[in-house]
Amino acid sequence: MWNNITSCSLWRLSPSFMSSRIQTLTPLFIRHYKDFCKNRQTIWTLRNSLCQVLKKTVPTLTCNMFPHCFVSNKARYGQYKKTFPVLDGSIPSVCEHVFEENLRNSEACIQRYSELLCKVSKGGGESAILRHTQRNKKLLVRERLRMLLDDETFLELSPFAGFDLPYGDVPAAGCLTGIGKICGVWCVFMANDATVKGGTAYPISVKKQLRAQQIAIQNRLLSIYLVDSGGAFLPLQAELFPDQSHGGRVFYNEAIMSAMKIPQVAVVCGSCTAGGAYVPTVAEETVIVDKIGSMFLAGPPLVKAATGEDISPEDLGGASMHSKVSGCVDHFASSEKEAYECVRNIVLTLNYELPPEETLEYDDPLYSAEELLGLAPRGYSYTLHIKLILSRLIDGSRFQEFKAEYGTTLVTGFAHMEGHLVGIVANNGQLTHDASLKGSHFVQLCSQRSIPILFLQNTAPHAPEPTSLSQCGRSFDPNFLFLWPNARVALVDSRHISTFPQARDDDCTGDDSELKHLKEKLDEESSAFHSSARLWDDGIILPQNSRKVGFFLTLNAHST
Ligand code: COA
Repeated sequence: MWNNITSCSLWRLSPSFMSSRIQTLTPLFIRHYKDFCKNRQTIWTLRNSLCQVLKKTVPTLTCNMFPHCFVSNKARYGQYKKTFPVLDGSIPSVCEHVFEENLRNSEACIQRYSELLCKVSKGGGESAILRHTQRNKKLLVRERLRMLLDDETFLELSPFAGFDLPYGDVPAAGCLTGIGKICGVWCVFMANDATVKGGTAYPISVKKQLRAQQIAIQNRLLSIYLVDSGGAFLPLQAELFPDQSHGGRVFYNEAIMSAMKIPQVAVVCGSCTAGGAYVPTVAEETVIVDKIGSMFLAGPPLVKAATGEDISPEDLGGASMHSKVSGCVDHFASSEKEAYECVRNIVLTLNYELPPEETLEYDDPLYSAEELLGLAPRGYSYTLHIKLILSRLIDGSRFQEFKAEYGTTLVTGFAHMEGHLVGIVANNGQLTHDASLKGSHFVQLCSQRSIPILFLQNTAPHAPEPTSLSQCGRSFDPNFLFLWPNARVALVDSRHISTFPQARDDDCTGDDSELKHLKEKLDEESSAFHSSARLWDDGIILPQNSRKVGFFLTLNAHST
């Protein structure tokens, strides 16, 4: 399933908590804006009963934010430092041409990555930005995050989601998600970008938001919603609201998180209609920004059409109305700045006990991370030994290997990422029977010891059959899954295209131009960018940044 290094995923076995007894959160049949105001009480009653049921059905769930966090200490690291052997990461001279080929390929992939990132960072484009900032007097989504976060430490998730989809380009899926810190507490952020069609939800936006919620649930992270959304993107409404993993699931998840005692705080920082209004209403504590934030089931034009009543957005669902009359929001803020300060104050009331500040001691790898560009393989014939990659990722290039002599096409062992102990499971050729046994043994060890695992995946398909679906991917619920830009994700290798069963179908002539077209299609559909656009992963990271991202995720996975 996963070809070519390097998709890396971080995975800890976590309890399955979904209760089959809870079908759906359906308090959202609110027909009129006046009912909406009255019905927050109903929503809360229903949400609370849902939470009660969940508490009974999932009694083992607790929200201890940092049970394993920072268990490492300086003294222990000192010992590891002495005993973990150092890997030899020097690149053999006979492999230099492979290194050069890989390097050229990585440079091309990174250029595509940078161009796309630049495009995505412009959101909905210049005129939409002007409308957002000049006419609607709102801050851009990234400015909002900057005001809210403790510092610049922020891991953005899936920025390429929504790129080149059948229904067009939706920059960053119209919402920014990621992980950062407020008042020292790690949080997952879900922030609509209203420069992209008024922050409305496309099918991919719903998927992105659900993924962010899943991360919050799996890693027990506080969730912050910055809501500025016109609800469903109506031309695609049938593809984003009725099914199990569609829009309604976002509100269902909010109830689930509440039952798990995962706090959720929302800021209404734009005009929020229908689905856009439910998120802050179901959240546990909500702040609204005066003159900028509003919430309604349908805006003034629809009210006029339905009831003949003329009403301004402020009277219908503005900050004063919701903080003074309906009680739908809990805090009134006179500016965006004040709203984000208010969020920080809310976080201070969550009663979290933060772990003691501890600066972990660690050594950098002995080899340059830049050389990872020459190690990221261009194709199956360009793969170098996985330990060359490991020696550029882990602290001091020190690796305590497990079952070194057995099933050698899979490398397993312990290492540190910025002082945190991690298990490593890394492909080094075909996944054989012995290698699989070794891998499962090692995963069990890590699970028993509560050690996060870093998977480095690089499995070539056997030609011409598809590779086994049992290989690790999204279906196995890793806590996080990232790709390097050179990664390819496919069941089959396009080099063997002429032997594909479909190429021999009656409808398929199998002539050269047809095979060429099929190969190009397969190559494009196997690219990391194609995968990331569809949220089959949590984003593309540059090889030289892997260590930073890996450390970040280890920290959060340690906290589960
Ligand atoms: N579905 C599809 N497109 C929508 C939309 C929706 N629900 N809401 C807004 N858009 C589009 C607009 O057509 C416009 O497209 P354009 O840039 O191609 O012209 C773009 O989003 C921005 O809308 P605009 O009204 O110009 O911007 P704004 O910032 O002043 O207002 C909203 C944004 C979302 C507040 C406003 O458009 C609105 O109230 N939309 C209707 C929301 C609604 O009724 N939703 C019901 C969902 S069930």
